[in-house]
Amino acid sequence: HAPQGHVSIILLGATGDLAKKYLWQGLFQLYLDEASNGHSFRFHGAALNPPEQGWQLMTQALDKLSCPLDVLPESCAELKGQFLKLSQYWQLQTAEDYSTLSQDIETRLQQEGLREAGRIFYFSVPAFAYAGIAQHINSSCRPGPGAWLRVVLEKPFGHDRRSAQELSKELGTFFREEEMYRVDHYLGKQAVAQILPFRDQNRNALDRLWNRHHVDRVEIVMKETVDAEGRISFYEEYGVIRDVIQNHLTEILMYVAMELPRNLSNPEELLRCKLQTFRALRSLEKGNAVLGQYQAYQGQVQKELQKPSGYMSLTPTFAGVLLQIDNLRWEGVPFILMSGKALDERVGYVRIIFKNRAYCAQSESHRDSGKSQCQPRQIIFYIGHGTLGSPAVLVSRNLFKPSPPLGSWQEIQEMPELHLFGQRLADYYAYRPRQERDAYSVLISHIFHQQKNSFITTENLLASWDVWTPLLDSITQEVPRLYPGGNGNEHLLDFEQEGNQVVFVQREVEQLVSNPGS
Ligand code: BG6
Repeated sequence: HAPQGHVSIILLGATGDLAKKYLWQGLFQLYLDEASNGHSFRFHGAALNPPEQGWQLMTQALDKLSCPLDVLPESCAELKGQFLKLSQYWQLQTAEDYSTLSQDIETRLQQEGLREAGRIFYFSVPAFAYAGIAQHINSSCRPGPGAWLRVVLEKPFGHDRRSAQELSKELGTFFREEEMYRVDHYLGKQAVAQILPFRDQNRNALDRLWNRHHVDRVEIVMKETVDAEGRISFYEEYGVIRDVIQNHLTEILMYVAMELPRNLSNPEELLRCKLQTFRALRSLEKGNAVLGQYQAYQGQVQKELQKPSGYMSLTPTFAGVLLQIDNLRWEGVPFILMSGKALDERVGYVRIIFKNRAYCAQSESHRDSGKSQCQPRQIIFYIGHGTLGSPAVLVSRNLFKPSPPLGSWQEIQEMPELHLFGQRLADYYAYRPRQERDAYSVLISHIFHQQKNSFITTENLLASWDVWTPLLDSITQEVPRLYPGGNGNEHLLDFEQEGNQVVFVQREVEQLVSNPGS
């Protein structure tokens, strides 16, 4: 391939957890995908650690990189060696450090006779450091004319409407909107990324079904088994709603509920449709949420934050929230967003459950069998983990036959007897990706290709905080209900079951559904 220009990628927070777990792997994948297309790269890891320690920590992460399954071990070692050669470490602290980095990039470009394509600065650092770093980048690290700058920002993006707006305003003084890529890594998950394309490819069938006449309710669920130990100081400030519901689950809700843009890859049109739906969300109040806290949390707070033994934290580690959308399509349909730490299983999914009326009317098997009860009919975007293990798209066979997801997805043939959401796997049209890709690798590739539609613009961010801030303000004094960690929470979403300590949660969520606002 013809030379495409040189790209410098600067990973700020190169020795941190996120970098070690996902970002270096994502950058390595980018290198594998793109270097052969004529791009040349250099990867600059940066952190506050002194040079030797920083390099050592960084190389520990690089040692653990893995290649795709089809790469032979010898070739993998060679590729990792090449990647390491293109990587270096910087201790970046002062304005001067940033200009030294920038000068180094320019000197190399000149020495090697390369044309600069652009620079990506990935902020994997605490948000309080954003403004200072942004200022340094803006004043000394912008590339020359003709080359682009992209900055990638990780949540938390504020704490409420006001702080999010302040942070956005501050960043807006250094970067243009089109230069900023705010990451919500759930939008890089394969099943989440399928929601809009699936709706688009199945317009014909869904035109009739995707509305209040046929949808009984929508559940958007992210259950985790891990608790907050080790990150209590962060968690005390944020809690489950700010940590994952205001962002990940709300973005998923938008994908399900928004009107379909005519062109899915047009970020402006996508944003317009999203904002319309944000505006139609009914205001949230205390009565819309059920809050919980796992029992061991208080002890962890006292230990990690050295609080006296009588100290009581009111931070929710679990929340089930009922949202309603006041528009013609969704009026009266409950959207339940639910997430928690220290639950019985790790699983994420979006489940669109259809009303009996809708599916009985169309059910061939129902008419033939003469059964009085219809089988459940649902569409599930299975994000991952749990019983199935991998991402999947599932459509009840008695609903309609979907067009299979585009790209490298395949039908699931095995485990026909496995039970998922009250149906055997064999009772679904079921698809999963041929190869699982980590969300960060997917998003890093989008950033590189300037595909902005899976990132959170300022307007999108503020619209979401508009929804959540009133609820968050109204629950500051609410005492969350205690629930046991780990097993014992199996029935959180199981509306038919009774008989354990957390039944109150499912009962209350159920009550919200049948009696919104109560
Ligand atoms: C992060 C949250 O955004 O998402 C964490 O801060 C949470 O609390 C994590 O554990 C879950 O992401 P994943 O990809 O592991 O499901």
